[in-house]
Formats: sequence, structure tokens, C-alpha cells
Amino acid sequence: MVLTPPETAAARLRAASPVIDALGDAWIVGGAVRDAMLGLPAGKDLDVVDPVDGVARARELHRLLGGVLTVHDRFGTATVTVDGWSVDVATARAERYPRPGALPEVSVPAPLTEDLVRRDFTVNAIALRPDGEVLAFPGALDDLLTRRLTVLHPSSFRDDPTRLYRLARYEARLGFGVDHETEGLAREAFAAGAPATAGAARIGNEVLLLLAEEPEVAIRGLELLRSLGADGLEVDRELLRRAGALLPDGLPHGPLLLAAVCGGVPDGWHVENPGPVLDAARDPAGLAAEMRAAVKPSDLHRVLRGRTAEAAALAGAHGAEPQARSWFDDIRHVKLEIRGEDLVAAGIPPGPEIGAKLEEALRKRLDEGISGRDAELAAALAHVPR
Ligand code: CTP
Repeated sequence: MVLTPPETAAARLRAASPVIDALGDAWIVGGAVRDAMLGLPAGKDLDVVDPVDGVARARELHRLLGGVLTVHDRFGTATVTVDGWSVDVATARAERYPRPGALPEVSVPAPLTEDLVRRDFTVNAIALRPDGEVLAFPGALDDLLTRRLTVLHPSSFRDDPTRLYRLARYEARLGFGVDHETEGLAREAFAAGAPATAGAARIGNEVLLLLAEEPEVAIRGLELLRSLGADGLEVDRELLRRAGALLPDGLPHGPLLLAAVCGGVPDGWHVENPGPVLDAARDPAGLAAEMRAAVKPSDLHRVLRGRTAEAAALAGAHGAEPQARSWFDDIRHVKLEIRGEDLVAAGIPPGPEIGAKLEEALRKRLDEGISGRDAELAAALAHVPR
């Protein structure tokens, strides 16, 4: 395989994004450059480094292109969002880690070479100018060509243990190999408990990014993490694959994977919507047993009432696949045509009796196949709650 020449990569980025032509002598760095040189389609995120003043560059971009400018005063960085593009602009910086796992101390401006040296992997340490000029960490272009993930120095994972998880994400998503020495360093870092020094929230964010990848990619990345010695991840490929196959199209797989792999939301992780994760993690084997014990469709309906799709899928994978399928394909879509107000109109006083009668109509609909408003109403009215 060959790499896309830098001029061609820059030209493709220019064709994809209106931002590039407005960058002046700033550099594009990180994933956008890596992917452009691999010939992969451009995403909508750009990381830009200005040699002198990133915030001033961002203001200039905003003046030229419009969109929304957000200045992050604390970090001396800024983001411009325009035309669906999100452009993070920083001043070229040098970083020093006061202690392992801590956030780095930053000095700006620094030469671009210093800015490249502080990065995670050589393939992410390549800078490209809009005119096609390229500046790369030594060996970076060779690693990109041979599809290899290599850290820039031996203390990289100790300095920033989130990189252990980024390694897995890139390995799985890009299908890259891991450099032999880098793999050894990753094992050592896990064995030494490096992730604990970065704090749960930062590690959690990286794992969540991995889980948000395509399911196959996420599973592969999780397996790599396990094999390198990551703690707290239960990875049963077959179970994850079966559960994922049950999940209805269009639902993200992340919550299901998190429930299966971590058994819930680990302490200190920030999950925007934890409901489906917690529900799916609630004794899936027990739920599977209840689903298997359901004799009639209405039994299964009762067992899964109020439960999320994630819970049904994970329980399904724990040995209740036919039941989960029938619930997803059929049972969960069944809705009565009548409502409580129809029963009130028919003379039933508001109260718990209404619920019991509706329940009976639904049971007959599910188990006996009655259909239509009249049949439902007749079933409800004929029922005498005990
Ligand atoms: N970076 C780093 N160490 C980290 C996080 C980020 O060195 N812990 C650097 C890398 O050079 C990375 C760049 O910052 O390429 C931008 O980070 P990010 O936006 O997270 O990744 P992308 O490069 O955009 O890659 P992708 O979106 O494909 O993950």
C-alpha cells in the first residue's frame, strides 16, 4: 500500500472543507492528516495548531467563515464550528507531566516539533499545511505506511494512561498493528496500575469512545485491552455478538456493551443517559430465566414490561434468544386500539378496574389473537376483575 502524497492529501482536505483555505500558515494535525494520507474519507473534525497564537487564528477563521466561535480561556484554545465542521485550534505547545497520569503543564508558544513530540502515537504526530508542506515526527510516515502504532517515547503510557485505551481504539478501527516495544510498554503500564493515576472519569471517557465505534470494532478493541491486562472488562465475544444482533436497528450499541462488559456504569464514569445501561446490567441471566419460563405471549409481555431494548437483548443473549426475538419482532409492538377513556365512555367508573380490564383485553389480543376495537372493547367489558 502507498500513502497519499501530502499535496494530494491537502488538496482533498481543501475540497472537503472550506476551513482549509482560511488556515494561512497554521498546521492541520492529528487524525485528519492521518486519515487523509491513508486515503480515508475526511471526518468533520479538524485539529489545527497555530505556530504563534491559536486563539487569534480561531478569531480570524471565525471572521472569514462565520459560524460559532468558542474560546476556552483556561486552555488558551478555541473551537470554531462552521458548515458542520468542528475546528479545534491551539497554539503550538510543549508539555511536561508533573507526575504520572496528571494533566500536563503547558508552555506556549513552542516550536511545532515540540508540539508533535507531546502526542500519543507517531501516526498522530504528523502536521500538514494547506499548501502540502508536511512535518512529521521521525518514523511517523513509515509507521503510517506500514500501519503501525508506536508511542513516541517509553514513558508515554505512564505520562498519560488514557493512551492505552486510545491504542485499542486505533488498532481496532484502523486495523493497524501495534509496534512490538509499544505493546510491551502497554503491558507494563497495565501491570503497574497506570490507569488509576489518570482518574476514573478520563479512563471512562476513552472506553466510552471505544464503545461508540462500530460494534465489531469495539469488541476487537476490548479484546486487545483485555489481552494487554486491562482490569474491569468482561469480554465474551460470542455473548456480545449475540446480544448486538438482537438489538433493533438504529439503536447505539454502546450502552448494551457497557452493561455487558462492565456490569453497569463504573464509579466515576460520566454516562449521559445511564438508564439503559443500568437496566440491561440488572441480572440479565435472571431475566433470561424469566423469559424462558414465559408460556404465553402475555407472560413475556409482563416479564419485559418497562424494560429497555438493551435489557431484552442482553438477556436474550444469556439463553433466551427466541423469546427476545419474538418480543422484538412482535410482542413489543402490540398496542390496544382502545384506551381507558373508551371504557369510561362505556360506563366503567375511573379507577383501578379500568387498568385491569385493559390488561385483560391486551392478554386476549396477545394470546388469543382477537383484533379490532370492537373485540377489544367486548373483552374488556366482559372481564370481571377479582
Ligand atoms: N492526543 C494525544 N494524546 C491524547 C489525546 C490526544 O497525543 N491523550 C493528540 C493526538 O495527536 C491526536 C490529537 O491530539 O491525534 C487529537 O486528538 P483527538 O481529537 O482525540 O483524536 P483525533 O486525532 O481526532 O483522532 P480520532 O478522531 O480518529 O480519534
